[in-house]
Amino acid sequence: MNALDHQSEHRPGSGGHLPPRAAEQWARDQDARGNGEPMQRIDLSFEDVAYPFWIGSRCTGEIAAHLDAMAASSLHIVTDRNVGALHAGTLAGHLRDVAPVSVWTLPEGEMTKSLGTLERLACQLLDAGADRKSVVIAMGGGVVGNIAGLLAAVLYRGIRLVHVPTTLMAMSDSVISLKQAVNMPQGKNLVGCFHTPSAVFADTAYLMTLPAEHLRSGLCEIIKNVLTIDADRLSFLSATLDPSARYDETTLVRMVEAGVVAKQRVMIDDKREKGRAIVFEYGHTVGHAIELACGGRLSHGEAVGLGMVVAAEVAHELGLLPGEVRDLHYRLLRRNGVAIRAPEGLTPEAVMTALRSDNKRGYVRAGAGEIPMILLRGLGEPLWGNGEQPLTLVDADLVGAMLRRHLFQLEPSHSMQEFPCLS
Ligand SMILES: NC(=O)c1ccc[n+]([C@@H]2O[C@H](COP(=O)([O-])OP(=O)(O)OC[C@H]3O[C@@H](n4cnc5c(N)ncnc54)[C@H](O)[C@@H]3O)[C@@H](O)[C@H]2O)c1
Repeated sequence: MNALDHQSEHRPGSGGHLPPRAAEQWARDQDARGNGEPMQRIDLSFEDVAYPFWIGSRCTGEIAAHLDAMAASSLHIVTDRNVGALHAGTLAGHLRDVAPVSVWTLPEGEMTKSLGTLERLACQLLDAGADRKSVVIAMGGGVVGNIAGLLAAVLYRGIRLVHVPTTLMAMSDSVISLKQAVNMPQGKNLVGCFHTPSAVFADTAYLMTLPAEHLRSGLCEIIKNVLTIDADRLSFLSATLDPSARYDETTLVRMVEAGVVAKQRVMIDDKREKGRAIVFEYGHTVGHAIELACGGRLSHGEAVGLGMVVAAEVAHELGLLPGEVRDLHYRLLRRNGVAIRAPEGLTPEAVMTALRSDNKRGYVRAGAGEIPMILLRGLGEPLWGNGEQPLTLVDADLVGAMLRRHLFQLEPSHSMQEFPCLS
């Protein structure tokens, strides 16, 4: 079934809610309006790799012109059913005169990020005649970006990849990473590699059809950047966040730029995100475990938000993080409209089991009862565990206790008592 049937909130730009059919009509109307301002170019460079990040609004024609210049033998748009119904057809139409173009549509959602999907896609592209001069166009959110990115990386041992991100998460975060991966039953992103895109084309008009919960998900990562490495943007974010997730295009462009600039700053000398840039995994240790344990019922960003709360409570309990910075986590997440509690049906035991497969274990030697985590000792001040990586070994029992107390409310929650207005 098409997931559009399940979406309750759609965004026509100024903030109202559109039913699914109206969202499709709205997307068509935007395309009919033609191009907006020319796209702006941000040059991203991480060590020896560089690629352009183009940002603008209503720029399908300009994206097609850039793809034309790549002289591809064939173009393969990989998308999911939602983005396919709303936007991929229009892009494919613009590309008809550029090169033979195919659209490969995947089921939406995290379950699609699997080795099985990768194999099926690879077979389909090979059968369709994809060769070394073909270009894979990842058009969608982080799920599509990751799977299409891995496909481009492995097909003929690496063909060109272009990202056309359509979620805030993808525009401001995942496409600025060279990491491509699929999930395994044992955990998230456990099989993958690094592959540099040839270019990114971020058209913020796509965000106008994005359901509110997915805007909130992307904003959780931007909140993470502010808490860990981009404290200068705290006042912008505090003044802008809106629990109803109604943002105009200018604000969305600023949010995307905030994500891009923060990632560039840290990844400039850490393209593989194995040193300083591990800081972007703040909240992801517990967040990934929650995401895995609840089987996709929470968005990636919401799960990371809950993971950040646990990390902040752990750091506070250890006497490392001042109470006001811990409380800032709650305030920003609540202003983003995110509920700070574990989803119905999830158990602390399931989260703790999933935590054992966290892929940060490979970075440091951790004992059976220890969990490597990114902790803060202040706003914008990660704790540099071994001097090179922001990882600290934390007693698993302490993580379990904070999880139970603050996300499952199995013991009276300190933060909730102090801030009854926020609960
Ligand atoms: N490579 C990295 O470093 C990195 C970084 C962050 C996240 N990620 C990955 O990204 C994934 C999460 O990405 P996401 O949050 O974009 O989720 P997603 O890709 O699942 O997209 C969210 C939902 O929004 C729909 N959608 C996308 N664009 C739309 C639009 N314009 N209008 C209407 N609906 C639209 C999708 O169909 C989907 O249902 C996770 O798998 C995560 O691991 C990777």
